[in-house]
Amino acid sequence: MILSTQLEYKGDLFPSNITNYKKDVDVLHFSTANNVILQLTVLRDSVLRFRYTTVGKFENDFSYAISENASSGYNHLEITDDQEKYIVTTSRLICHIHKSDLRKSIFDANNKSLICEDEKGFHWEESYELGGDIVKMSKTAQNGESYYGLGDKPNHLNLKGRRFENWATDSYAYGKDTDPIYKAIPFYTALHNNKAYGIFFDNTFKTYFDFCHERRNVTSFWAQGGEMNYYFIYGPKMHDVVVNYTDLTGTPELPPLWALGYHQCKWSYYPESNVKEITAKFRELKIPCDAIYLDIDYMEGFRCFTWSKDHFPDPKRMVKELADDGFKTVVIIDPGIKIDMDYSVFREGLEKDYFCKRADGPYMKGKVWPGECYFPDFTRPEVRKWWAGLFKELIEDIGVKGVWNDMNEPAVMDVPGKTFPNDVRHDYDGNPCSHRKAHNIYGMQMARATYHGLKKFNYPKRPFVITRAAYSGTQRYTSTWMGDNVASWEHLQIANIQAQRLALSGFSFAGSDIGGFAEQPNGELYARWIQLGIFHPFCRTHSSGDHGDQEPWAFDEEITDVVRKFIEIRYQLLPYLYTSFYQYSQDNVPMLKSLVLFDQDDSQTHYRTDEFICGNQLLICPINEPNSKGRRMYIPKGEWFNFWTYELVSGGKETWVDADLDRMPIFVKAGAIIPKYPVQQYVGEKTIDELTLDVYYKHGKEDSELYEDANDGFDYKKGRYSLRKFNLSGNDNKLIIRIHKRGKYHTSYKTFKLNLIGLPFKVKSIKVDNEYVDLKDVKFNGDNSLVVNKEVTNIQIKG
Ligand code: GLC
Repeated sequence: MILSTQLEYKGDLFPSNITNYKKDVDVLHFSTANNVILQLTVLRDSVLRFRYTTVGKFENDFSYAISENASSGYNHLEITDDQEKYIVTTSRLICHIHKSDLRKSIFDANNKSLICEDEKGFHWEESYELGGDIVKMSKTAQNGESYYGLGDKPNHLNLKGRRFENWATDSYAYGKDTDPIYKAIPFYTALHNNKAYGIFFDNTFKTYFDFCHERRNVTSFWAQGGEMNYYFIYGPKMHDVVVNYTDLTGTPELPPLWALGYHQCKWSYYPESNVKEITAKFRELKIPCDAIYLDIDYMEGFRCFTWSKDHFPDPKRMVKELADDGFKTVVIIDPGIKIDMDYSVFREGLEKDYFCKRADGPYMKGKVWPGECYFPDFTRPEVRKWWAGLFKELIEDIGVKGVWNDMNEPAVMDVPGKTFPNDVRHDYDGNPCSHRKAHNIYGMQMARATYHGLKKFNYPKRPFVITRAAYSGTQRYTSTWMGDNVASWEHLQIANIQAQRLALSGFSFAGSDIGGFAEQPNGELYARWIQLGIFHPFCRTHSSGDHGDQEPWAFDEEITDVVRKFIEIRYQLLPYLYTSFYQYSQDNVPMLKSLVLFDQDDSQTHYRTDEFICGNQLLICPINEPNSKGRRMYIPKGEWFNFWTYELVSGGKETWVDADLDRMPIFVKAGAIIPKYPVQQYVGEKTIDELTLDVYYKHGKEDSELYEDANDGFDYKKGRYSLRKFNLSGNDNKLIIRIHKRGKYHTSYKTFKLNLIGLPFKVKSIKVDNEYVDLKDVKFNGDNSLVVNKEVTNIQIKG
């Protein structure tokens, strides 16, 4: 007789003993008596991938996150077998896999010290309601271990003691500690005993991370479905962990240089006359600006790919006039397509069957700005192709230069959960699944399709895309912002942490809505936020507009002057920021470095949140409080010059730094050579006739780089770039700079103007490429500057 029709709840299940081991080149399979298989792939000497199945067979191996350009290859691989364990050895790591329970311990191959060890290790729970497993992993936390990463979390930079969820969520006016918000980036870096390692849990279901919150000495992560599939990345430098994670998930191509300029946005600038007023005011007040945004009101009834005839009767003319004045037009495009048989995009999507459907067949209907909408399934290649094609008119004909993808978590209004129901079906590039699996990559696939559209129709110019939702790897296609923040001092601090955290999570090209999206800043808050924003890779003011204006002149003249001054600093620093973008794009180096990433050996940095390094050599610390005349901040070890006063400061301690409203704490690393442009009102306004190099003296050595190319187009990929490496070395009475150049690009300017800062000696002679310079030609009165031919390879300055 059947007594119970319920499936038996078995609780947590664990692998049993290993019964079989198989090696297939660099893929190792360990099978247990209860049908669990661990597949260990050696990707690099310091990167191992672990995949588990509980049913004796793996699903198709498919990932949206992993870049096709990810490096692979290792120097050494050896597998040995003792009584209790298998031992996998590379030139950097030793991994023990215990035969009795499949648990793993990973050691540094050089000094045999423990890096990371499974606590319970892999375990799972059967999910009767949804099918499949809830897959779990737990690790023992080491003494003093700290945790960083996870994308856009608005919490303390160090994640220790907290639990997080990854589920892309529309989060209007989120607060400090709101979780989750817009992005799902399941990657973290851990640090203990001067050793850093990273974990990338490549699972797109809803995932959770617990950093010693539930149990003091245990870190765990789990997902509501899919595979336990994670990458272990060893440092021991955190910098190398981040670089390797970024290598795995990819970097963007170089953006057009204008995209690193200042952007102005509001919900919404319309009609055309309002847009023109705003752009004219920038030029009139001489506040540099490169991009102007059109939010949803430019459309006809919020129908994507249409224009409101009343407000924008002739978009092509307007966009051209703006372009003639140096403004690039960026327009918003959301995923929701209005249900309207008279609307061609809707009709076409319907005819071609491109919209997402519920499990039993009806379309996924949801309300967004246009009212009831259907939503393209961007996880189908043919839908992405169709979507890309929709940009032809906007980009090729009208001349729009950038596209802003919003609401792509995907956001749905007035429903519980604010998104699609779980049963919605997706193609997932030929791996059909429910929304539970596709939710976190929906926005990414939309941005990817948009990027391909822009790339095609803007060619041979570079595309520019910005997205709100993202999963790991999204950085390959687009920039991002932190969504709907609030005009508060607390949010200024959050924006700083989020930008650092995103950079640490492989996504450097990010910035906040400067001044705050919801509510309104006062002038002081706005000015302090601009000061921070100019050091973020993406620099845009945006606001909901409900509470008043948020342009640089919306406050008073003093504020306008401060804002102008800082935006001008950004424009001067463009070659520095561009070089840093190149290092990110080419070498996977994050453009912002939290102090812990900059100097992990100094434990003072482990809980720091406000100070960060922009590029490699500028130390920045925003003012986070009203009425400040300055602040205390930690200066990392080494020697630093105050950017304003050139005063030299030795780091390794907290220091008070003066910063009235027209200043913020900025320091330059001793020995740095910082390239600068003249101030321009927009990128390309002026032909650069001379490049300024601010040379900061150092007793010792320091290397700097300068990357240049045509600032747009793709010729740089064919070698038409110029990369200069500067090696500076100084002692008590000498400063030597050696310069090596690579690449075929010829810059417009012929000379460098060197500003020599902080020389501790009076200059008696200068030799440029072995020829003495007449000291009369060198301006030492006041500005200590020296002009040299740009092809110079060696400069010797003696006291
Ligand atoms: C969302 C976006 C915001 C945009 C608004 C209207 O709230 O996050 O940036 O202005 O929608 O499109």
